[in-house]
Amino acid sequence: MTEPVLLAADRTLDADWWRQACVYQIYPRSFADSDGNGIGDLAGVTSRMGYLADLGVDAIWLSPFYPSALADGGYDVADYRDVAPELGTLADFEAMVEAAHAAAIKVIVDIVPNHTSNLHPWFQEALAAEPGSPARDRYIFRDGTGADGAEPPSDWISHFGGRAWTRLPDGQWYCHLFAPEQPDLNWDNREVRDDFLHTLRFWADRGVDGYRVDVAHALAKDLSEPLRSKTTVLPDVLDGTDPLFDRNEVHDIYAEWREVFNSYDPPRTAVAEAFAPSAARRALYARPTGLGQAFNFDLLQADFDAAAYRTVVTDNLDQALLAGSSSTWVLSNHDVVRHSSRYGLPVGADYAEWLISDGREPVLDEVTGLRRARAATLFMLALPGSAYLYQGEELGLHEVADLPAAALQDPIWLRTGNILKGRDGCRVPLPWSSDGDSYGFGSGAGWLPQPAGFAPLAVSAQLADPGSTLSLYRRALRLRRELRVDEALEWVATGSPDMLHFARPGGWHCVTNFGTEPVPLPAGQVAVASGPVGDGMLPGETTAWLTR
Ligand code: NOJ
Repeated sequence: MTEPVLLAADRTLDADWWRQACVYQIYPRSFADSDGNGIGDLAGVTSRMGYLADLGVDAIWLSPFYPSALADGGYDVADYRDVAPELGTLADFEAMVEAAHAAAIKVIVDIVPNHTSNLHPWFQEALAAEPGSPARDRYIFRDGTGADGAEPPSDWISHFGGRAWTRLPDGQWYCHLFAPEQPDLNWDNREVRDDFLHTLRFWADRGVDGYRVDVAHALAKDLSEPLRSKTTVLPDVLDGTDPLFDRNEVHDIYAEWREVFNSYDPPRTAVAEAFAPSAARRALYARPTGLGQAFNFDLLQADFDAAAYRTVVTDNLDQALLAGSSSTWVLSNHDVVRHSSRYGLPVGADYAEWLISDGREPVLDEVTGLRRARAATLFMLALPGSAYLYQGEELGLHEVADLPAAALQDPIWLRTGNILKGRDGCRVPLPWSSDGDSYGFGSGAGWLPQPAGFAPLAVSAQLADPGSTLSLYRRALRLRRELRVDEALEWVATGSPDMLHFARPGGWHCVTNFGTEPVPLPAGQVAVASGPVGDGMLPGETTAWLTR
């Protein structure tokens, strides 16, 4: 009698693994290079599975590893069901999943459904086909406007700068909300929909546990003629009728995806990268009948400030409840300046300008930035919901702001006429050891130059140091697993505007001093702290977990 009951209970537990998981984002080209070609690869990930297990993460999310000409760092996919040759093979992928699962680590892959690469066979076929052909109907092709069609079909703009239309020699234009090498798919086309269902099953059949869905709010577009005007890159209305973003119809797509997810045991999970105009609209992506979870980037956008943090937490826990999901928390990812650097720059600093000055203006206070980043991370890891970490943050890496122009790969650099440096500074290959050509990343130099400052921050150096950022992450993640309880949080009054204190069920307390002066620590045993604590005092810009 007992056995089947236990099995059922285990399955339920497993189906909910994502709700409070710690997910580690891998940018594969920059993680570990196993074959010395300067590019991180899947075998490199497999070789570091022990590191990830010791770090204590529950899942890894891999940014795209598919064949790609890298017009947008891999978010221009030429084949959704294969591995880029420079990153390995499908057999390497399967070996990686096996190693991950053996280490009790789930695997999440990135799905990029809004656009393909211009090198995708479908787009190549469309280029060779006639206007009005079925091949062109998989994308968004239109005749131009103006007397001879020389004006674009609409005023839509690209997220990377410039207009969202490119003209072909035969006179037609195609739509790309990102780079010209990323033509947008037509999600009104049944073949497109079916092909993505196929892709989802393809990876699920290879043991993938979940998906991160790129630009999830942009797939459904109002393509009725005449095309409506739209000159922003975010939804402007709350009712789902914006011409391009967060349209009501997008959820029909995800309802179909959900059927695929739920046909597996345990059901596959997904997290939407969806820029919605309100909490209620974001909840539609996160509900259990939709993708199941949605990113919120509120913490990532917040200043290191007690009131701001409290508002973000309260709002997002409410939203998650509304959605029937759990909240997500993010401080860094492959698209933004690392949080250790953001927090070392003056409030309100323009990161783009800082990058273009090669990190000279304003001056980065590295020590303060890292101190705050460690406090912020420890705060985040105590929250109910899933925490998403970005590779290298566990080493306390700073943004590499002084990458030379000749090394830059992000299309933003060229597309903006060298005005914006883009996102390469957070994508620099990881340092694994303090010496060697690429600090242990591979046997030769990496695809982006690493600064000398990476040497003392290498994994090998930090493992030996109990006070290192890596040691802090390892301790915190181990404790998080032990302490993990119901998704509840209660604020405890602190009497100080600079201090936040919340309690989780079971006597797990998190206290953060956002100010600079030490404050008395509340009662409890210090389980872990982001900086030195002593004499019953919590120093400035420090978080401590207390158990009672
Ligand atoms: C969001 C991804 O995170 C980003 O890296 C990419 O450039 C765009 N989507 C377009 O796919």
